[in-house]
Amino acid sequence: MIPRIYIPGDSGALALGAEKVAKAVRAELAERGIEAKIVRNGSRGAYFLEPMVEVATANGRVAYGPVKPSDVKSLFDCGFLTGGHHKRWLGAPDKIPFLARQTRLTFARCGVTDPLSLDHYKAHGGLKGLQNAVAITPADIVKQVTESGLRGRGGAGFPTGIKWKTVLDTSADRKYIVCNADEGDSGTFADRMIMEGDPFVLIEGMAIAGIATGATKGFIYIRSEYPHAVAVMQKAVEIARKAGLLGVNVLGSANSFDMEVRVGAGAYVCGEETALLDSLEGKRGQVRAKPPLPAHKGLFGKPTVINNVISLASVPVIMDKGAAFYKDFGTGRSRGTIPIQIAGNVKYPGLYEAAFGMTLGEIVDDIGGGTATGRPVKAVQVGGPLGAYFPRALFDTPFDYEAFAAKDGLIGHAGIVVFDDSADMLKQARFAMEFCAIESCGKCTPCRIGSTRGVEVLDRLAQNVEPEKQIALVTDLCNTMKFGSLCALGGFTPYPVMSALNHFPDDFRPTPVAEAAE
Ligand SMILES: Cc1cc2nc3c(=O)[nH]c(=O)nc-3n(C[C@H](O)[C@H](O)[C@H](O)COP(=O)(O)O)c2cc1C
Ligand code: SF4
Repeated sequence: MIPRIYIPGDSGALALGAEKVAKAVRAELAERGIEAKIVRNGSRGAYFLEPMVEVATANGRVAYGPVKPSDVKSLFDCGFLTGGHHKRWLGAPDKIPFLARQTRLTFARCGVTDPLSLDHYKAHGGLKGLQNAVAITPADIVKQVTESGLRGRGGAGFPTGIKWKTVLDTSADRKYIVCNADEGDSGTFADRMIMEGDPFVLIEGMAIAGIATGATKGFIYIRSEYPHAVAVMQKAVEIARKAGLLGVNVLGSANSFDMEVRVGAGAYVCGEETALLDSLEGKRGQVRAKPPLPAHKGLFGKPTVINNVISLASVPVIMDKGAAFYKDFGTGRSRGTIPIQIAGNVKYPGLYEAAFGMTLGEIVDDIGGGTATGRPVKAVQVGGPLGAYFPRALFDTPFDYEAFAAKDGLIGHAGIVVFDDSADMLKQARFAMEFCAIESCGKCTPCRIGSTRGVEVLDRLAQNVEPEKQIALVTDLCNTMKFGSLCALGGFTPYPVMSALNHFPDDFRPTPVAEAAE
């Protein structure tokens, strides 16, 4: 049998040198006259081990990492094609503690299979969900998704089944499924990983959504900063169409569903669902007032399901294994699993899929291994640039939508960014206001004007100009933005600002005059 070598083609692995490693492996194979198949798989998400190269041996897969091009010669010398020992030897990938402890439902195949091989996809459980879906009524699909407890993974945590039911119950000559792959949150990469590493699971999820709601056309709106994801998705859609997974008779059924990939132009606000719809329609991405909801009047004025990549990619496993299976994972009203993205100043960055309910402390200290700098963790921002900063005192908070909301925070798209004790939280608060000012779509005053005034107030505070007055002013301003903004960009910017102020008051305290003069 020809040896199989897996070298990730995932953007994160490429950024860490995977292409150079692939080149070195190819050169070494040629020099030694060895025939082997190189598979460009996705990443398993343990980024501290990337580029992680795997070989298929008679005893299963064996991983090596992080591999440098300069390691390649010695890897061959050590017999790595049959799993030989080497300083980069990691053993069976699914026994690596970071991976072994996870519950991989949505990411089960990511990093394991050849992303563009439909045969590989099917051999690893793919398409079973869609096969089950075409055999039942749309209402029964919606019922399954509702009963699974799946909530939107894009940020708001809205129940997916309820959204689908609204579209199913709205009659129209045309309906759409829109996949939100704008993934603008800081420290997030789950959508990208799925699109690059297991694109068919997203296509399958979207096809199920179409059949469930009566939508015949889908769009995947991918941010322009993801060229690899765009290329993989485009190829995967073509393959799926040729294989009859998309088109007039999905999997030979009476349902028709097709889709295309669209590339965004690069604005954080275009991740907001109504701004995204405007952008898809070819307009400038500006937030629409709601109502009407996109489920009633969305893309081109037609009923539209708009869901995040992970929400849609989680549907196939639900339709395959059943609502009860999925619902069994999790805690409270947060059911199933969540792909947590651990980033920032952290020792073991990566994607960690687990059932809801782990504490923030477990995620940061046990899984993430604390900071990369070795200094104490000062703060963790959860949920992107609009998420709150959590101090160590809140590390017992379980990763669950309601638990985070109860502590004035949010889970968002489940990205966490770790900061050590050198972080200046006043600067972080200013950054939040500045980010809002730059990214504001300009439609409403609290956000458009408030964010710019917010930067000015925090600058005066940093310069020690009437500090108590500035603190009162920024607090008042945050209240206005929170309750007066049209969308969550202006409405949630107060979360990072006020959490920084409330949890780290020392960073906002006026510097004593003598000290400031030094
Ligand atoms: C400023 C802003 C940016 C957003 N960016 C994204 C994004 O990049 N991806 C995403 O899925 N949702 C994003 N959302 C949330 C979407 O508006 C929407 O709630 C989501 O796409 C719905 O899908 P879900 O129910 O599957 O989460 C953003 C919201 C706001 C206010
Ligand atoms: S809050 Fe900001 S981004 Fe949202 S609608 Fe208002 S101006 Fe636009």
